[in-house]
Amino acid sequence: MSKIIAIANQKGGTGKTTTSVHLAYWLSQQNRVLVVDADAQQSGTTWLEYLHLPCEIINDPDELFDRLPQLKEQYDFVVVDGPASLSETTRVILTRADLTLVPCKPAGLDMHSSNRVIRLIRQARDLRGGLPHAALFLNQAKRGTVLLREARAALADSEITLLDAVIYDRQAITDAPSQGQVVWQMSSAAAKQAATEFTQLFEEAWEKLSDDRAE
Ligand SMILES: Nc1ncnc2c1ncn2[C@@H]1O[C@H](COP(=O)(O)OP(=O)(O)O)[C@@H](O)[C@H]1O
Ligand SMILES: [Mg+2]
Repeated sequence: MSKIIAIANQKGGTGKTTTSVHLAYWLSQQNRVLVVDADAQQSGTTWLEYLHLPCEIINDPDELFDRLPQLKEQYDFVVVDGPASLSETTRVILTRADLTLVPCKPAGLDMHSSNRVIRLIRQARDLRGGLPHAALFLNQAKRGTVLLREARAALADSEITLLDAVIYDRQAITDAPSQGQVVWQMSSAAAKQAATEFTQLFEEAWEKLSDDRAE
């Protein structure tokens, strides 16, 4: 069955586009995948062209509401790269998503602002009888800092699952868009570590989706 996977957080710079493009590439190895760029900044479109992944730019909320179910019929997966700040657009995406991943930086302010998207997820679940499935994960974490431990503790209390997989702050990830690549295609040691982390993240998110469906 086809799925819509949204990458959402109204805070900018948390890793939505980075995660969307890597997830789309990962899924595209075995599936037909479309990325919907719902961010007016369209930062992922050139990167996706290099990767030969199809992308549609839709950032009008009404258009998203109407188009997402149609696109879902045409692809195995529709990955929606969510916008910063526009709650209305995020709200619509959450009414259509099967699974939502929320990237979150382990920094005080960022974690506070993730409460906003968690609230929208809760509201969507109220309306939709528990959908979308949702999980948070920590992105751009710095190894060995107290921050990471504190962030885990803070997010563990939230009503949305915190995934065990963590994406660390790695230069290879920052460099990927300008090279038109994803970390699985890059050869540095840091890229290989990042590739392992992304694979773990997506496998865990996928398991989470399957577990929830079994409930
Ligand atoms: N894990 C990471 N390690 C290093 N740089 C990262 C990581 N995640 C994101 N970035 C960088 O941080 C910036 C913001 O990420 P982006 O995916 O564009 O966020 P968003 O789409 O949420 O605004 C980009 O320059 C991106 O390359
Ligand atoms: Mg973005």
